[in-house]
This record gives sequence, C-alpha cells and structure tokens, in this order.
Amino acid sequence: MKLGVNIDHVATIRQARRTFEPDPVTAASLAILGGADVITVHLREDRRHIQDRDVRLLRETVYTKLNLEMSVAREIVDFAIETKPEQVTLVPEKRQEVTTEGGLDVVAQKKVLVDVVKRFRDAGILVSLFIDPEENQISASGDVGAQYIELHTGNYANSRDDISKSKLIEKLQRGMETAQKLGLRVNAGHGLTYQNVGLLVKSLDVEELHIGHSIVSRAVFDGIQKAVSEMKELIFRHSLQKQLGRMG
Ligand code: PXP
Repeated sequence: MKLGVNIDHVATIRQARRTFEPDPVTAASLAILGGADVITVHLREDRRHIQDRDVRLLRETVYTKLNLEMSVAREIVDFAIETKPEQVTLVPEKRQEVTTEGGLDVVAQKKVLVDVVKRFRDAGILVSLFIDPEENQISASGDVGAQYIELHTGNYANSRDDISKSKLIEKLQRGMETAQKLGLRVNAGHGLTYQNVGLLVKSLDVEELHIGHSIVSRAVFDGIQKAVSEMKELIFRHSLQKQLGRMG
C-alpha cells in the first residue's frame, strides 16, 4: 500500500505570515526522502494555503507522483492541464469549510464531470474522484470515465466506539469491492492518524492512502525540541561574543 503525503498545512503555516517559510516544496523533498510515494497538494480557489508557484515548483521537483487535489472550477482545471501533475483528485470545495467536508456528488454533477474527466484523460492525467463509499457514487464515477476513486475515510476516522468503527470499515470494504469489480482503482484518505491507520490497512486493499494533517502535526512535535535548542544556542553564542567584545 502506497503513502500519499498531503503537505497543505506546511503552506498554511507559511501563509499565516505570508512569508517564505516553511516552504512546502522543501517539505515535499524531505517527505520523499522519508518514503512518500505520492505528494499531494490542494490548490484551493481561495489560495488559502498552496499557491500556484508551489504547484509549478512541485511539478519540477517531485519525481515520484504528484497528485493535485482540486475543484472543477474552470480556472483551476486550466491551470492543472497546463501544469500536468500525474494525477488529479477532484473534490467538492466550499469557501467556508475548514477542510474538505464530504465526498464529491458525482451523481448530481455527471454532465460536468464527463467533460472535465475527458479533458484530463486527453492530457494524459489520471483522474481520481473523492467520494463517500456509496454504491450510486461509485458506479457514477465509473460512468464519467475516472480511473480512480478515493474513498472518504472521514466518518471512520471520527468514529469513537468499536461498533461504529467496524460498521464503517465494512462500508468501506463494500465500496472498495464494488469499485474494483467495475474496474476502478481505489485509494482512501481523510482524517487518518497514527492511531486509526492500523485497522484500515488491515481491512482494506487499496493502492494509496492519503494522509496530511496528522503527519504535519507529528512533524511539528518531532522537530520543536531541536529547533528551540538551536535558537537557544544561537542566542547564547551571540551574547557571549558581545560580552567578549566589550571586554576586549
Ligand atoms: N484526501 C482528500 C481528498 C483530502 O481533501 C484530504 C484533506 O486535504 C486528505 C485526503 C488528507 O486528509 P487529512 O489532512 O485529514 O489527513
């Protein structure tokens, strides 16, 4: 099973100050060194975290697989076709949401999706549709010509008790099997953490797991002790030099 790492939240920290750091392009290179099979970024219509420049540079530097998450807005579709990631994952997008809330309603948007999927396929870009594990959404995904679906694991990730967890796992399993029978390739993601990924890996046989927030959160804690001690050391060293300068 492959790991797709979503690095949007590295850009979220950068955009909090609209500065140059931390750069998601550097994060992508380090994630690949760590074993990431896929790098994912979501270019949102409001550009709240990832910027056009990031996607262009990632296109040049990601030598594994670049997966661009996006809505079907014309401007974003044109940009994606020009930038040529290996894969796009189409998601619903609302301005007010904190993160992608539900799956794409493929049934309701069939007409638009047939055209958009064709544009990507003609450009040699793989198309994945982020959907809830519902039978009608899965068969509609096949109908519109997508090669992949990404099953939304958010409900499983948010469930607290074992009974609902196993029911939601069964639902994901049924969704995966339905999709595979239709010849669709299956990925999964959203809300996965170091705590809940194990059961999912044991229960599903999908190609790629897409994980973002939990990995970026872990990275902050894994690095903060070293980062603080380096700053302390720097302040100490410069204070010492100042004192020696005054003495000399
Ligand atoms: N897959 C999709 C389609 C998403 O929209 C997101 C969030 O950007 C993820 C996976 C990753 O979710 P999380 O950040 O909760 O791991």
